[in-house]
Amino acid sequence: MYVCMCHAVTEAQVKQQIDDGAQTPREIAKGCKAGTDCGSCVRRIQALLGEHGARPCPTARLAAKLGLAEPEQPAAQAA
Ligand code: FES
Repeated sequence: MYVCMCHAVTEAQVKQQIDDGAQTPREIAKGCKAGTDCGSCVRRIQALLGEHGARPCPTARLAAKLGLAEPEQPAAQAA
């Protein structure tokens, strides 16, 4: 599935950038140009960053509310 239509960047490519150490949309952009044109994909990129624990992202909660991403999972409870 494409995340960034302007640069034909897929969700898998963004996840690879995160696995390679990207922690912000700017770092994702450096790696694959996603988010550097119209900017409409930046919220989805932020949500992916939040989903994959790259960085706590308040925008991920908003993206979940808007149905753009899965809701954050609560942290594991200590027994
Ligand atoms: S859709 Fe990503 S910059 Fe336009």
